[in-house]
Amino acid sequence: MSHSVITVETQENVSQKLFIQPPTSGLSLQGRIRIPGDKSISHRALMLGAIAQGQTQIKGLLLGEDPCSTASCFQAMGAEISELNSELVTVTGIGLGNLQEPTDVLNAGNSGTTMRLMLGLLASHPGRFFTVTGDSSLRTRPMSRVVKPLQQMGAQIWGRKDGSLAPLAISGQALKPIHYHSPIASAQVKSCILLAGLLTEGQTTVTEPALSRDHSERMLKAFGAKLDIDPQTHSVTITGPTQLVGQTVVVPGDISSAAFWLVAGAIVPNSELVIENVGVNPTRTGILEALAMMGADIQRLNEREVAGEPVADLRVRSSRLQSCTIAGEIIPRLIDEIPILSVASVFATGTTVIKDAAELRVKESDRIAVMAQQLNKMGAKVTELPDGMEITGGTPLVGTDVDSYTDHRIAMSLAIAALVATGKTTIQRAEAASISYPNFVPTLETVISQ
Ligand code: S3P
Repeated sequence: MSHSVITVETQENVSQKLFIQPPTSGLSLQGRIRIPGDKSISHRALMLGAIAQGQTQIKGLLLGEDPCSTASCFQAMGAEISELNSELVTVTGIGLGNLQEPTDVLNAGNSGTTMRLMLGLLASHPGRFFTVTGDSSLRTRPMSRVVKPLQQMGAQIWGRKDGSLAPLAISGQALKPIHYHSPIASAQVKSCILLAGLLTEGQTTVTEPALSRDHSERMLKAFGAKLDIDPQTHSVTITGPTQLVGQTVVVPGDISSAAFWLVAGAIVPNSELVIENVGVNPTRTGILEALAMMGADIQRLNEREVAGEPVADLRVRSSRLQSCTIAGEIIPRLIDEIPILSVASVFATGTTVIKDAAELRVKESDRIAVMAQQLNKMGAKVTELPDGMEITGGTPLVGTDVDSYTDHRIAMSLAIAALVATGKTTIQRAEAASISYPNFVPTLETVISQ
């Protein structure tokens, strides 16, 4: 029956309009969901596998467009990667320092993680020349946050606006180690410098103002890198050069994808969803803490550890939500979940304040401006702050024409909002979801019950 709630119209084989119209009697969500593999871990498994010695087996890789961009860049530099699938991908690594000079521009597509992490490796390959670009969104995103520290290490990188915008050209060099005090808590910045440090003689340290996701640290250690972590000061030191050795990586489900179902299950009346195999690394579980503060009924079931990452099943039931303030050290631990948290806040009593999240303005879109505009079009009360939003809950949403701005997390957040709006919502450029969650719409169809 759910097919009448959701319709997809594809234009020119690419652009998709997603129509969502709940029945006037409402709908509920029921079922068990297996979410796709973690995007951050998928990128890192492909990259470390490519530069390690020997074979890396990856189970549960995310088949989204972003990891595909990473795979094609490293294939162009000599790594052998079997056909991408979520069962088993085999990467035959080329060994430390052996990335080959590609004969064409490396294209990171929409993926900031691909470009920023890869830059650390390219900059530290002496005698080789690389050019990197990305799609129209990525070409507007700040690269100076990684280019500056790499230049302090002796890197030679050129690009528009003093090397801060892609396309970038890189002439690989033997770098010198530094201690970098990052002004932002960013796993992409931290990982870029650690990867540059991997090939650099001596100790390279990154200190960040708050702890960002630590997947690079976990995986680098598992592959044999020499890493020292000081949790007190949020510092990581890598001693290079160290040869990495191929490993088996089991990628858990992406909590950033689970977040859409957690909020959907909480705000759609009479719902109960179980989301299986979700990565619950503490550097990523800010969303669970924020939703708990808001009163969401979410339980962790079957907690376990899989290949060095904590995993659980999550059960969510419809809940009465209340407002809260989300700010400070929790922000880097839920940065990608703020668009869907803003949807949850629309259904919470009181005014939710989200602060210290200016980073959202330089993601795949300006997520503060876009979410505020699109939710307000639907009747919400959202005020933009320079570094966040104020959302006053309790106003009913009304279906209308909204736009993802080609940002995957905006597309999916608006689809969840549409489930609890009256009338029909049209989401323009909804195909963006496939960047991180290619099966989002079919999964939504399976859990809708009328
Ligand atoms: C990511 C880190 C985060 C996150 C991005 C993925 C990663 O970015 O927003 O989606 O895989 O390292 P920052 O580290 O720049 O905050």
